[in-house]
Amino acid sequence: MSNNLFNENILQGKVAFVTGGGTGITGGIARALAEHGAKVAITSRKTENLEPMKQLIKENGGECLAVAADVRDFAAVTNAIAQTIEHFGKIDIVVNGAAGNFLCQADELSSNGFGTVIDIDTKGTFNVCRAAFDELKKNQGQILNISATLHLAATPMQIHVSAAKAGVDAITRNLSVEWGRYGIRVNGIAPGPIEDTEGIKRLLPEHLKEKLTKKIPLRRFGRIKDIENAAVFLCSEAASYISGVTLVVDGGHWLTGTAFG
Ligand code: HXC
Repeated sequence: MSNNLFNENILQGKVAFVTGGGTGITGGIARALAEHGAKVAITSRKTENLEPMKQLIKENGGECLAVAADVRDFAAVTNAIAQTIEHFGKIDIVVNGAAGNFLCQADELSSNGFGTVIDIDTKGTFNVCRAAFDELKKNQGQILNISATLHLAATPMQIHVSAAKAGVDAITRNLSVEWGRYGIRVNGIAPGPIEDTEGIKRLLPEHLKEKLTKKIPLRRFGRIKDIENAAVFLCSEAASYISGVTLVVDGGHWLTGTAFG
């Protein structure tokens, strides 16, 4: 915990519900929220994907509840939210991190393949926001949607994810406008190339890493910690007048062209 940049109590008293919170970037966010005082519920399709993160959070002195739920299934999401409220008494922060991804060019992608990623990323994000609305309204809570930079220009082999994340950004903007009157803040983070993530392992062949590094204005891949810091900031009172923003955390990369070009 000593390498944290923020006060360790910055999220004290908050309860966070984090989808996809077992692994990768969203796992890091869940752990970081807990390290800064929040109690955390993490969800994934399979409980076994959640157990290591739950243990880690507990070893770090945090409180964690692991609940299996597929974000595509509204009833399962509603149930996971109800379990979290029963266990921790409330929810203040929702992080939508559950995401699907694979490389496939548009002329080989099936309709169901396209729809599957839309269902996980876009509909899943809506499902969780919608199911958590009453609770967030009660607590003047907030939502953090994990987006990407793939759709800011255009990324070959990623039409499904690009469309899905563009939809996520639209959800961020729309809900910030519709739910701002209840004191609910809705923001997003768009991570660029982040090392040691499933996304980069799957999407970026090893031989292209050096080329990509040279293209990133800050000349390095991002670290999960970079995204954790952005998340802790956006979830904290320090961001109390920020809503409707998707914060790009990519070392300036997307400005230089397509995501993997
Ligand atoms: C083409 C594929 C495919 C592939 C699945 N499909 N994998 N098509 N290439 N590699 C198609 C299937 O053929 C099928 O269509 C449809 O998708 C549904 O497949 P299922 O296996 O039944 O779906 P399901 O098990 O529900 O989900 C599969 C999955 C999911 C979407 C691949 O398991 C998944 O994404 N897992 C990875 C999770 C992950 O890595 N998340 C991190 C995301 S990183 P048909 O027509 O055959 O029925 C991220 C950041 C991006 O988002 C930024 C990076 C820089």
